Amino acid sequence: MLSLITRGLVLLYITTACLINAQLPLPNPPYLPPEASDGAKRSSGQPNPQWSTLLGNLLYFYEAQRSGNLPFSNRVPWRNSSTNLDGKDVGLDLSGGYFDAGDYIKATFPLTAALTSICWGATDHGKAYDAANQTAYLDDMLRWGLDWLMKAHPSNNTLYVLVGNTDLDNAYWGGDVGIPTFRPSFQINDTSPGTDAAAGASAAFSACANLYSSKGFGGPFSEPASLQNSSYSEKLLTHAQQLYSFAVNAPGGQRTYQTSVPSIAGTYSSSSYTDELTLAALLLSYATNSTALYQEAEDYYTKFNLAGQDGVFNWDSKTPGLAVLFAQIAQSNSGLGGNLASWQAEAERYFDRIVKKKGPGYLTKHGLLFYDGDSDSATLNPALNAAMLLIRYAQIASTPEKKSAYLTFAQSQVDYVLGKNPMSVPYIVGTHPNSPSNPHSAMASGGNDISNIDTSPEKEAYVLYGAVIGGPDKFDQYYDIRSDWPETEVALDYNAPMLTLAAMHVLNDTNDPFYTSLEVGAYEKVRPKGHPCDPVFPEACAPTLSKGAKIAMGIVVTVVGLVIAGLLAWYFRVLRSGKVE
Ligand SMILES: *[C@@H]1O[C@H](CO)[C@@H](O)[C@H](O)[C@H]1NC(C)=O
Ligand SMILES: *[C@@H]1O[C@H](CO)[C@@H](O)[C@H](O)[C@H]1NC(C)=O
Ligand SMILES: *[C@@H]1O[C@H](CO)[C@@H](O)[C@H](O)[C@H]1NC(C)=O
Ligand SMILES: *[C@@H]1O[C@H](CO)[C@@H](O)[C@H](O)[C@H]1NC(C)=O
Ligand SMILES: *[C@@H]1O[C@H](CO)[C@@H](O)[C@H](O)[C@H]1NC(C)=O
Ligand SMILES: *[C@@H]1O[C@H](CO)[C@@H](O)[C@H](O)[C@H]1NC(C)=O
Ligand SMILES: *[C@@H]1O[C@H](CO)[C@@H](O)[C@H](O)[C@H]1NC(C)=O
Repeated sequence: MLSLITRGLVLLYITTACLINAQLPLPNPPYLPPEASDGAKRSSGQPNPQWSTLLGNLLYFYEAQRSGNLPFSNRVPWRNSSTNLDGKDVGLDLSGGYFDAGDYIKATFPLTAALTSICWGATDHGKAYDAANQTAYLDDMLRWGLDWLMKAHPSNNTLYVLVGNTDLDNAYWGGDVGIPTFRPSFQINDTSPGTDAAAGASAAFSACANLYSSKGFGGPFSEPASLQNSSYSEKLLTHAQQLYSFAVNAPGGQRTYQTSVPSIAGTYSSSSYTDELTLAALLLSYATNSTALYQEAEDYYTKFNLAGQDGVFNWDSKTPGLAVLFAQIAQSNSGLGGNLASWQAEAERYFDRIVKKKGPGYLTKHGLLFYDGDSDSATLNPALNAAMLLIRYAQIASTPEKKSAYLTFAQSQVDYVLGKNPMSVPYIVGTHPNSPSNPHSAMASGGNDISNIDTSPEKEAYVLYGAVIGGPDKFDQYYDIRSDWPETEVALDYNAPMLTLAAMHVLNDTNDPFYTSLEVGAYEKVRPKGHPCDPVFPEACAPTLSKGAKIAMGIVVTVVGLVIAGLLAWYFRVLRSGKVE
């Protein structure tokens, strides 16, 4: 009897999940992240169970970030439906999608960077998702973002780039049932365009259209994850084409989107649109097999002087990824053109400077790749993004020496992030007992006292499994303080490169991730006291005197004291001798 009911429920579950999402059926029973203690156990087998778990947890994080009406299949028991009225102010349904980070805004530009990254990685490392039984969750995760992005693009030349009030939201700290209902929607359009935001969204749609049409890169790369759906791919492609045309032809001209929507300037200003425009053209050329678009992408690369750049790869700066993608396309026999050797030279110039430490990125004392400025508010992201590009590009490097140097460097970054650091902390929430316990996330914290974020409540209410955090400071120190957003905040774009890295390890690595070898509790022994020197704790940046400075100071004080004493003695002697009239 009981089993009959259970079976009925299971059937209902599967049917509902399918009906609601019209996508791959989700596993039953569902995948749930294991206790953090599981990360301290060694595993073996192919695919490696620990890497498979990590891949599952990284995807699970996105489920916790969902905005809107949560479906029956929701796996995050402490999340509630929320913000269902998003878009009402503009007469649209903009509910759904993802909260960007530790607060409750929905920001299109970084979302599309994350989606592009994830679809790209699921295209060239896709069989890992199949091997880890995570493809249905990948599909679910992508559609939750892409379906919203389609709603945020209601007509050819309109794209919503921000939902939620950035000021109010920064002031609201609390659970997902009390989110302030004043959530304005901000758009770009013909008269107030945003070339980067439109092109970035186009790139995400193209990258995911490639994935949904199972259009891999061939050669040494993995086949795409098995979630082919041609009607969905077509739908994505239509949006990609319209958005590209919007980016290129908006009557208001080409410009960065924060000039049209100043409300986003404080959180996600774009530094330029040239990288997104080139990426959009390139991905669309691959998705549509268009030599004309491919030529446009190469022309942009030249016209915008993108060659020779040396900076970070992240949600805002996509240039370093371009040479990699050009090279991948050149080796894929797509017939689009492109000279493999010259794209290899361009990619290798960039990567060689990273691994030989000749570029602006340098290593912290304990080996984390660090870019002044870009790394200051999130140290792990630039390092993980570099590692992700390196493992991808290594497959088509021009020499075995370069391939091996790139893979070694990437491994050093991944090891650092997963616990090979002086804190003995794997910087992913809920993966190991030493993992961060205080991610900056309003919804996971369980608190609502904004002036006491760190202590109210004492212990974070919910474990935000699978969240990659900002990371330690440039001195490799991690303080685990909830209010310290540069170190502890979580974000959609922080997780993205780690997914592709974990996928590569699922495919290729029988060894465990570094954290299984960590001593449980080691962090508590080395946890630094006080506060890190960062924008949240400027007082911790006040210059403290070195020992030498203190000695010098002591000498100055003594000398000045002696001089004053001498003067006083002279004065009184003069007084006593009665020579002052
Ligand atoms: C493909 O996606 C469409 C649109 O989301 C959906 O309606 C359809 O059921 C899917 N087809 C398959 C075979 O999964
Ligand atoms: C994936 O599912 C298959 C079939 O249920 C199972 O044998 C296998 O162990 C699973 N693999 C992982 C990594 O979960
Ligand atoms: C969801 O609602 C439940 C019940 O009201 C509450 O206990 C929980 O804290 C809420 N979750 C969040 C993230 O606020
Ligand atoms: C176009 O976008 C700007 C900036 O968001 C906005 O102020 C303006 O109202 C929009 N125009 C229309 C016709 O909606
Ligand atoms: C929107 O874009 C599509 C495809 O790019 C085009 O066919 C259509 O004419 C455009 N619609 C308008 C109203 O411009
Ligand atoms: C792409 O276009 C070229 C000609 O431009 C053609 O030879 C090739 O078959 C096309 N590839 C696909 C997959 O359609
Ligand atoms: C994965 O393994 C294959 C076969 O051993 C190897 O050629 C490839 O370089 C490896 N990929 C990575 C990223 O290590």
